[in-house]
Amino acid sequence: MNSLSRVVFAFLAFLSILPAILALDDGFSYGKEKIRGVNLGGWLVIESFTTPSLFDKTNDTRIVDEYTFSLYQTRDAGFNALKAHWASFITEQDFADIANVGLNHVRIPVGHWILDVSPDEPYHTGQLPYLQKAVEWAEKYNLQVIIALYGAPGSQNGFINSGHQRDAAYWHTNSTNVERTYKVMNELSTMFEAKSNVVSIFQVMNEAAGFRRAVLNPGLLAVLKQYYLNAYNFIRNPLSGKKSNYMVMLHDGFQHLSYWKDFMPKDKYEGVMMDTHIYQMFNDHDAHMSYDDHIQRACQNATIMSESPFMTIIGEWTATNNDCGPHLLGRFVGPRYDGSLNGSTAVGSCVGLTGNATTFSEEYKEFMRMYWEAQTMSYERGGEGWVMWTWKMENADEWSYQAGIIHGWIPRDPTAYKYPSICGW
Ligand SMILES: *[C@@H]1O[C@H](CO)[C@@H](O)[C@H](O)[C@H]1NC(C)=O
Ligand SMILES: *[C@@H]1O[C@H](CO)[C@@H](O)[C@H](O)[C@H]1NC(C)=O
Ligand SMILES: *[C@@H]1O[C@H](CO)[C@@H](O)[C@H](O)[C@H]1NC(C)=O
Ligand SMILES: *[C@@H]1O[C@H](CO)[C@@H](O)[C@H](O)[C@H]1NC(C)=O
Ligand SMILES: *[C@@H]1O[C@H](CO)[C@@H](O)[C@H](O)[C@H]1NC(C)=O
Repeated sequence: MNSLSRVVFAFLAFLSILPAILALDDGFSYGKEKIRGVNLGGWLVIESFTTPSLFDKTNDTRIVDEYTFSLYQTRDAGFNALKAHWASFITEQDFADIANVGLNHVRIPVGHWILDVSPDEPYHTGQLPYLQKAVEWAEKYNLQVIIALYGAPGSQNGFINSGHQRDAAYWHTNSTNVERTYKVMNELSTMFEAKSNVVSIFQVMNEAAGFRRAVLNPGLLAVLKQYYLNAYNFIRNPLSGKKSNYMVMLHDGFQHLSYWKDFMPKDKYEGVMMDTHIYQMFNDHDAHMSYDDHIQRACQNATIMSESPFMTIIGEWTATNNDCGPHLLGRFVGPRYDGSLNGSTAVGSCVGLTGNATTFSEEYKEFMRMYWEAQTMSYERGGEGWVMWTWKMENADEWSYQAGIIHGWIPRDPTAYKYPSICGW
């Protein structure tokens, strides 16, 4: 070889190993690049809000969540319905579409029953192959995956999104529940270790209900904090002894972010992220806010978020201002926006605010565009970015990223702002 061809050859050789070099990192520069993503809500943990048809077909009013869905119909009927849903609700095309609109993360809710069902629980299992496919598709389309534990044994919040609607959280009341949670998270993180350039974040618990004033869930925060410490250790330092690339994501447990300021200090615990969820609709005061007030509060949240001791994302939020979506508060519970919810004062009619976007007014869609921009701007300015709830909805377009793209209140490029100075910065 002459010297020129040697240089060319060396350069080509370098190019061929470049992907391997790049693959050594987390797959994403957390702290430098901004997280822009969507949740794949209602897929591997079902909710009647996302797919009402799945629940309506059961013809049983006792079926309100995944637990009762599995309990109150024959094993075959429940399993076959779930299998058809897993295979069709989210497919490879969704991953292609998500990548195509400039997003870089998908957050995937899972329940403990993806790996572990005890004899006294009705849950169907079988979600795992779909999660594995999701990770393959994410890799193919260059998306990062956040696996988020939504359903812990006993339920960490009693919410429908935990799989089991209950009067309170019971996860923390029995150490067997907590042990089972470690086991599930340990198995999942071990399983995807070789893919930690794709599955770059493990969220070890979603929305544990540590309400400050509530007598509802006493002792939960203490159990949660110990769980976070232990989960961090085995996820960052798995059995192989090699340090993992995984980021470990906590959820704030509904505490103000400053509550966490002395927890897991940065010099001892690297690679920790915090997730907080921002909705402006779930109490009477918020429901009555004007469009301008919603936008202003979104803008204010940029500074408040910087109080967090960790890299922080807003892992759930929405472009709509109201709780009109059918089944949002429960399968047979009406919204507070139109006064259907017991104890609420009506703001107005829900007609034209939920359902098919072809019924939405130009004014409503333009508000959602402004509010969407104010939020993404704010969550990128004050934090590491955002993951919107949710990619796809059967029958409530105002919550759907996909519908927002189609009907224009979400831009195809998430940085193509129509109202770049909406927050006055
Ligand atoms: C639903 O259940 C009711 C009461 O058992 C029954 O009369 C009705 O035919 C059922 N409908 C369907 C579609 O299965
Ligand atoms: C905790 O849960 C396990 C498994 O469900 C059960 O066997 C045990 O009795 C429970 N312990 C308490 C103190 O409730
Ligand atoms: C967002 O702003 C509201 C109103 O100022 C505040 O109550 C809330 O704590 C803020 N949330 C975050 C995460 O900063
Ligand atoms: C609404 O509240 C009233 C009075 O507290 C109660 O009697 C009724 O059962 C409640 N309805 C529902 C649907 O929760
Ligand atoms: C919404 O309405 C339009 C026009 O009536 C219709 O073409 C479309 O299929 C509807 N979309 C959904 C999701 O029902």
